[in-house]
Amino acid sequence: MSLNWVYWLLLLAQTLLHPLGAAKVPSLVVFGDSSVDTGNNDYLTTIARSNFEPYGRDFKGGVATGRFSNGRLATDFISRNFGLPDTVPPYLNPALSIQDFTSGVCFASAATGYDNATSDVFSVLPLWRQLEYFKDYQSKLKIFQGEAKAQQMLSEALYIISLGTNDFLENYYALSSRSSEFTVDKYEDYLVSIAKDFLNDMYHLGARKVNVAGIPPMGCLPLERVMTLKSVNSCNQEYNKVASDFNSKLQNMISNLGKELPDVQFSYSNLYDLFMDVVKNPTSYGFENAASGCCATGMFEMGYMCNRSLFTCRDANRYVFWDAIHPTERMNSLIASYLMNTTLYVYM
Ligand SMILES: *[C@@H]1O[C@H](CO)[C@@H](O)[C@H](O)[C@H]1NC(C)=O
Ligand SMILES: *[C@@H]1O[C@H](CO)[C@@H](O)[C@H](O)[C@H]1NC(C)=O
Ligand SMILES: *[C@@H]1O[C@H](CO)[C@@H](O)[C@H](O)[C@H]1NC(C)=O
Repeated sequence: MSLNWVYWLLLLAQTLLHPLGAAKVPSLVVFGDSSVDTGNNDYLTTIARSNFEPYGRDFKGGVATGRFSNGRLATDFISRNFGLPDTVPPYLNPALSIQDFTSGVCFASAATGYDNATSDVFSVLPLWRQLEYFKDYQSKLKIFQGEAKAQQMLSEALYIISLGTNDFLENYYALSSRSSEFTVDKYEDYLVSIAKDFLNDMYHLGARKVNVAGIPPMGCLPLERVMTLKSVNSCNQEYNKVASDFNSKLQNMISNLGKELPDVQFSYSNLYDLFMDVVKNPTSYGFENAASGCCATGMFEMGYMCNRSLFTCRDANRYVFWDAIHPTERMNSLIASYLMNTTLYVYM
């Protein structure tokens, strides 16, 4: 074969791998809850916050940024993996402006959900409000970069959406309003229909590469283990079943919508299986504790309850969970690596 042929074959392979013609992701745009909120809640009047010690203990400079972890979040690591900055800046930080958001921006808000009623619980940003901020961001970007460049950037950016756990734990199972209105099966459908509308809206706003994360086996979060009142060694199986049913519906919707809309690369991230495997075999991932969190007693504390507890562990790297709900930085790094290997590599 002549060199010329090799060249054309490589070009063909490149085109097949990147049908959008875009080889690289120039920016990471994030929507969701505390799994991906890099500090927006610091600027809201809510108790769902974490901008105080011991949060951020292992972040550069030991700063508590409002991330619900001891260090960086999975999306921070993912940004780095795409050759972008090593943190994703929160849109609401008044010290930042549009030039700080050209290679990444986060609209997420801890304690939110797909359901408006979930974001109401702690007065945080509902998903529709995150979308309004995204529109505001688009206008500013177009003024800053020019219409054509901004448009191209927005269509080549990778959008990550991660939420849903709070709709069940903070809303459906904690309050009576949604649970008297919907069976859990119908509530899952309701949430998936909101997710679908959101993806359609994103599409019409120019997003083409979108990854939606499923929810973890929420019955194995330290808080839920305590609430099952059996032993900390058992997960709440009912909650895990709901998580896995919801994930299947979400995954089907994403795959169907991805076929309906032209020129999109939609994907679904399966965090459930990774969490389950880590929880069952923590030592094979280098963890010693997968049942309770590092902060305070590790059984039920998060947010303000973690502040200055005498019980907080010394080495968070030995723990899967940092507080009773949220992963440690080390687990977040593992999540990012797993997602790069299983899902996000298609956008490389
Ligand atoms: C959530 O609230 C917004 C603002 O009031 C509204 O536009 C939207 O339709 C609501 N979403 C649902 C699913 O009810
Ligand atoms: C954390 O605890 C210390 C000591 O009790 C206290 O001084 C500080 O104000 C607390 N911080 C927050 C954000 O509650
Ligand atoms: C992802 O792939 C890399 C390279 O093969 C490997 O080193 C890493 O352990 C993988 N990560 C996970 C979580 O499987």
